[in-house]
Amino acid sequence: MCDTVNRCEAQLAEWVGAAFRAAFGEAAGLEAARVQAATDPRFGDFQCNDAMAAAKRLRQPPRAVAEAVVRALPLPPMLEKVEVAGPGFINLTVSPAWLAGQVAGLAGAPHFGLPDLGRGRTVVLDYSSPNVAKPMHIGHIRSTVIGNAIDRMYRALGFRVIADNHLGDWGTQFGLLIQGYRAFLSDAEREALTVEALERVYVQSYNRSKEEPGWLDACKAELVKLQQGDPENRAIWERFIAISRGEFERVYTRLGVGFDLWRGESFYNDILAETVALLEERGLAVESEGARVVRLEDEGMPVCIVRKSDGGYNYATTDIATVRSRVAEFAPERVVYVTDERQQLHFRQFFAVCAKLGYTTHLEHVWFGLMRLPEGTFSTRQGNVIKLEALLDEAERRALEIIQASNDGMSEDEQRELAAAVGIGAIKYADLSHDPQTLIVFTWEKALALEGNSGPYLQYAHARVCSLLDKYTALVPGRDPQASPLLLAEPVEKALALQLMQFPAAVVRAAEAYKPNVLADYLFGLSQTYSSFYQRSPVLKAEPEVRDSRIRLCAMVAQVLAEGLGLLGIRAPRRI
Ligand code: ARG
Repeated sequence: MCDTVNRCEAQLAEWVGAAFRAAFGEAAGLEAARVQAATDPRFGDFQCNDAMAAAKRLRQPPRAVAEAVVRALPLPPMLEKVEVAGPGFINLTVSPAWLAGQVAGLAGAPHFGLPDLGRGRTVVLDYSSPNVAKPMHIGHIRSTVIGNAIDRMYRALGFRVIADNHLGDWGTQFGLLIQGYRAFLSDAEREALTVEALERVYVQSYNRSKEEPGWLDACKAELVKLQQGDPENRAIWERFIAISRGEFERVYTRLGVGFDLWRGESFYNDILAETVALLEERGLAVESEGARVVRLEDEGMPVCIVRKSDGGYNYATTDIATVRSRVAEFAPERVVYVTDERQQLHFRQFFAVCAKLGYTTHLEHVWFGLMRLPEGTFSTRQGNVIKLEALLDEAERRALEIIQASNDGMSEDEQRELAAAVGIGAIKYADLSHDPQTLIVFTWEKALALEGNSGPYLQYAHARVCSLLDKYTALVPGRDPQASPLLLAEPVEKALALQLMQFPAAVVRAAEAYKPNVLADYLFGLSQTYSSFYQRSPVLKAEPEVRDSRIRLCAMVAQVLAEGLGLLGIRAPRRI
């Protein structure tokens, strides 16, 4: 689907393909010509290397083949010139007037020309999904941040996205929690219940269950009561959820993240039994040592346990039931799950079970590596828990220090507001600028750097362009640069316009691959091209016609940077 948005390449490839056919008919054996950005701008904007392979089939020298192709058809309006170079490269130089028309078209279109790929298509996106009664910690940041960027990109591409926060709000831990809540908390602590208190209760209750079998039995009894709908336990459990949800929402508000649904695991509790029954009916779930399992030998995986020997259901059972429910309710084309790499086997297993059940909905597990601090790994299960909120506080505090140091007449409120945009943006970008499947070593120095591939660098690049636009307005008040033609006379202006043209394709590639870093790399590249443009081409001091044309280019850069950062969930303040 990228080809349809790679306007230049696709259109050029069409023309080159037609030229090959005009010169050699089908004998060139060319299914479709391939055109790519030129490696060296001195040789044109794009190049096609297909003459080499065709030459072998035609038994002719490649250079002669390339020359025949170039002569075969008159130049289309989009091309200024076509040349053969070296052993037979076909170098294509795009016409500045054509390019100007194309890029201006994108600038006037919603989301800078993103194609409406998702019309009539639904994606369920399951991300963040923290566990109730545990604080959200840095381990959850990647799912939230990556999932939200994917969410924003798919929505912008016209998909109907159902973002579902699949909370871990059900399971055996609630027996330990309810029993511990009654035993370990004072009335005052119960009154002003916090997630921290719940976490302590859990650890205490868990430790006691290891030492005292009677304690574990009592916990199990509380769990059974909860599962059977005992009103008192149910009320306590609901309280745990409300407290956790309040805490999660605080973090989401700071991160600018929102969900369409908050259906926790408990939402599917009532359809677990029938899900296992369905698997049995289809001959998929069989008995094994008192449990019900789906064998996955053919798929090269261990059995998937769907009901334990004590009658309880597993994480996998809930996920299978969740697929049934989502397919029935939303008829999605795909369901995408964002979690860390440790859950890969779980997803492969239950995806295989869903395939056996005949589900054709595409199920995709987008996994990411763990994030490391130089001292070690953030982990849910190990002690070293760094709370996400503490991390966000620290980011804002550090950003505020930097902003205060440059102290240029902003009010304190403005500084704080900006520190939030920069600090949170820095954290998000540090995550999103890496391939999700690589290990990230997070450092404050890199995340908050004003130079290099960082969030603050891109925000700053955007703000600088905005300030230039403001200066233009002050210089020639009331003048509309849109009334002047876009000239693209200098190579660097053309390079900038060509790069702006690549925005829609970059977003599509990032969305398709579930890799926001593809978009981040694009934005970083754009800001670098902008910087060399700005160094080489005076804007405000140029002749009025050139000045207006250049300011139009600048406005497009600002537009794409803001749009692109927005898709990554990062704010782009006009002033830094
Ligand atoms: N609650 C899980 C965790 O924190 C993540 C859930 C992911 N979604 C899913 N449908 N399994 O590890």
